[in-house]
Amino acid sequence: MTFRLPSTQAPVAPPVASAPSQTASMEPISALHRLVTSVAPERAAVGIASESVESDLVYAEELAFVEKAVPARRREFVGGRAAARHALAQLGCPRSPILVGEGREPCWPRGYVGSISHCEKLCCAVTANVADWMGVGIDVEVTGGVSPELYSILFSQEELEHISKLPNISGVHWPTIGFSAKESFYKCYFPLIRERIDFLDAVLHIEANSAQSSGSFQVYTRNGLTRLDPELRSTGRWAAGIELSVTAYSVQ
Ligand SMILES: CC(C)(COP(=O)(O)OP(=O)(O)OC[C@H]1O[C@@H](n2cnc3c(N)ncnc32)[C@H](O)[C@@H]1OP(=O)(O)O)[C@@H](O)C(=O)NCCC(=O)NCCS
Repeated sequence: MTFRLPSTQAPVAPPVASAPSQTASMEPISALHRLVTSVAPERAAVGIASESVESDLVYAEELAFVEKAVPARRREFVGGRAAARHALAQLGCPRSPILVGEGREPCWPRGYVGSISHCEKLCCAVTANVADWMGVGIDVEVTGGVSPELYSILFSQEELEHISKLPNISGVHWPTIGFSAKESFYKCYFPLIRERIDFLDAVLHIEANSAQSSGSFQVYTRNGLTRLDPELRSTGRWAAGIELSVTAYSVQ
């Protein structure tokens, strides 16, 4: 594809294959896309790094951030950028580098917000117009990837009790959903408040209906850590399927 760049530096082909993973190509892209779209907020765009964006070019300014990284890290970084540009294009945003902020957050083009996530199975991104959402966070995890040794680091005693009372649903692993929910909450809020939030400072409540492998969740912080107006409308959604757990949190 030919395009004109606003940047002074031309994009270069990635030094490593930008295919996100073998599994992403093993699962139909439509299934991955459907899963991520099911949690994305209204009017947001979803991008999945797939074979169709494998040849996506990466910018030299972006590659500088992963120059010294191992190949797997460079692959996921490039895959995330490809997914992000795919999502931005759907909103009519011209191509440009997506640099990395001081908190490791992606720096979105003016007028847009978004979030990137990758796991060994896929790279995905959600983007939105700032007119629609002040912030969005996306997180994808392999279902069951959160092991019991981590529970006390990630969840308070009350949260563990809450999780233990949630219904058994085939394909749903509540600790994975809970971990992912806190991650997407963090990715949504960090660019807005520029404060680190510890896992135990974030309080999680998951809504579940035993007939469904998707639902909503809410997160609030102890001690009013989030310096945003508490009246802001926030939405948390989770979904599980094809051995993945996906959550998105958005605020407007
Ligand atoms: C930053 C963090 C959330 C990333 O999550 P992860 O599950 O390890 O990895 P993911 O693949 O899902 O996401 C990584 C992407 O998140 C994005 N990201 C990283 N730091 C971010 C930040 N401070 N704010 C928003 N997005 C961020 C980046 O796009 C990154 O991909 P990239 O480096 O290739 O661009 C996690 O590593 C972390 O530091 N967590 C500690 C804080 C936290 O989660 N608290 C939860 C309590 S609310």
